[in-house]
Amino acid sequence: ASTLGASAAASGRYYGAAVAAYKLSDSVYSGILDREFTMVTPENEMKWDATEPSQGSFSYGSADQIVNHAVAAGQRIRGHALAWHSQQPGWAQNLSGSALRQAMVNHITNVAGHYRGKIYAWDVVNEAFADGSSGARRDSNLQRTGNDWIEVAFRTARAADPNAKLCYNDYNTDGVNAKSTAVYNMVVDFKARGVPIDCVGFQSHLNSASPLPGDYQANLQRFANLGVEVQITELDIAGSGTAQANDFAAVTRACLAVARCAGITVWGIRDTDSWRASSTPLLFDGNGNKKAAYTAVLDALNAA
Ligand code: G3I
Repeated sequence: ASTLGASAAASGRYYGAAVAAYKLSDSVYSGILDREFTMVTPENEMKWDATEPSQGSFSYGSADQIVNHAVAAGQRIRGHALAWHSQQPGWAQNLSGSALRQAMVNHITNVAGHYRGKIYAWDVVNEAFADGSSGARRDSNLQRTGNDWIEVAFRTARAADPNAKLCYNDYNTDGVNAKSTAVYNMVVDFKARGVPIDCVGFQSHLNSASPLPGDYQANLQRFANLGVEVQITELDIAGSGTAQANDFAAVTRACLAVARCAGITVWGIRDTDSWRASSTPLLFDGNGNKKAAYTAVLDALNAA
């Protein structure tokens, strides 16, 4: 097929992009979005600071804009992110203990409830593990409410939207390492104890100047073997030309080789839309032209 979305659909997968509400009026941007992509992740609009700017008062305008656009275009939606140490509103940053725990539960209930039935998968908890070799949880105000905050978040999300897949999402978990193994052990534990979890997101913020982890596919597969869906959720690869294109192709092939890898989302559309724009990490250049990386992804999808 001739687009990312249609080519991914040939193997039952999706191809998604992170979207910013304020860019939807840019016709070059929305033209590419609606032509190429079958899944949408709001880049910032569903985060805690955006959806609950003051405690108990919810604001869904920008997120609804993205959801309405996606529904009209026949795209599915990945919700991002219900519970995260970052991008909390100031009032939540100042809470702790049971007040913060209760605020988190109320937040998840409201946001997942508002979008009930419309979300393919939620990033219920984002980036809860520490970098490096410790395998420990990341210290945060949420973590300090008690180690069970993650399972409480998942149970709350399940009650609020029983049909959404519930994901744990993180970065630097793209190969087999201490951090990804800590996430793996959490999934094993959740499965054993009946805590609802359906998917694990691998952000995959990568750089073509360093080799792709040689066990990238094996890492996806070990999670898939636990019975969870795996998704590549925030893909971008710093670089340019052939090196960048080759890494995009390799990531694509890794997902295609894992039966439970449901799809890939790139973290933006044009290089200029990226949170790391200076490293030109996406599939379209600033003018919306297809890069070598685009062609490499399309060819890899169509070779499947
Ligand atoms: O909305 C304000 C605006 O009112 C203000 O005038 C402006 C001035 O700087 O800032 C705007 O907020 C920015 C927001 O993006 C919306 O554009 C924040 O400063 C900026 O920090 C924020 O960056 C986002 C970042 O998450 C924050 O952590 C990026 O766009 C977004 O791409 C990035 O995405 C994260 C994922 O959620 C989780 N994984 C890592 C990934 C990359 O950091």
